[in-house]
Amino acid sequence: MTITHTDIRIRRARLEDGAGLSALLRSIGWFPQMEAESEAATLQRVTRHLDACLESSCHSVYVAVGNRGQLVGYVSVHWLSYLFLPGPEGFVSGLFVAAPARGSGVGGSLLRAVEVEARAKGCFRLQVINRRKRESYRRGFYAKEGWRERSDGASFVKQMREVC
Ligand SMILES: CC(C)(COP(=O)(O)OP(=O)(O)OC[C@H]1O[C@@H](n2cnc3c(N)ncnc32)[C@H](O)[C@@H]1OP(=O)(O)O)[C@@H](O)C(=O)NCCC(=O)NCCS
Repeated sequence: MTITHTDIRIRRARLEDGAGLSALLRSIGWFPQMEAESEAATLQRVTRHLDACLESSCHSVYVAVGNRGQLVGYVSVHWLSYLFLPGPEGFVSGLFVAAPARGSGVGGSLLRAVEVEARAKGCFRLQVINRRKRESYRRGFYAKEGWRERSDGASFVKQMREVC
């Protein structure tokens, strides 16, 4: 199935998008915990997180929807107030487009929706972590979208619990 960009609409996510988001995330194949759990467990967690995002103005989730109403992509962004910045930072925690819909402008359109909201909020900057092993990094997706790679810092994580 090929999806052309003109078939796609970007809108804010709703709670009923949980099933489409859950199926999309499972289809990506990047998350070992999802491989190990049932579809129902993934759906329950995705719906819980989505609900929390929709409840608060500190988060925004946009979805890309095809002309048959099928969900083909999403972006989630979290508006963070750093005490030392002149405006909030929008931290993009997820940007995923279903494999058949890639390469036709959907990902770029989702980022644009984030940028429009970021401007309206008076944001100082947007940030994303794009692992270097990913195809999107190798193909320079964010750079082509006008993002600049920061080379003066390291990204640290501290695992707070085992994945199960
Ligand atoms: C990266 C991603 C969000 C881009 O969305 P998209 O709709 O495919 O991208 P667009 O059509 O708007 O832009 C085209 C650019 O996207 C990237 N891209 C296109 N298809 C891609 C694919 N299958 N995998 C990775 N990146 C791809 C390329 O940089 C491409 O530019 P190019 O054709 O000059 O190489 C999407 O491909 C995806 O979900 N990939 C897997 C998950 C991922 O990497 N997410 C980002 C992690 S932070």
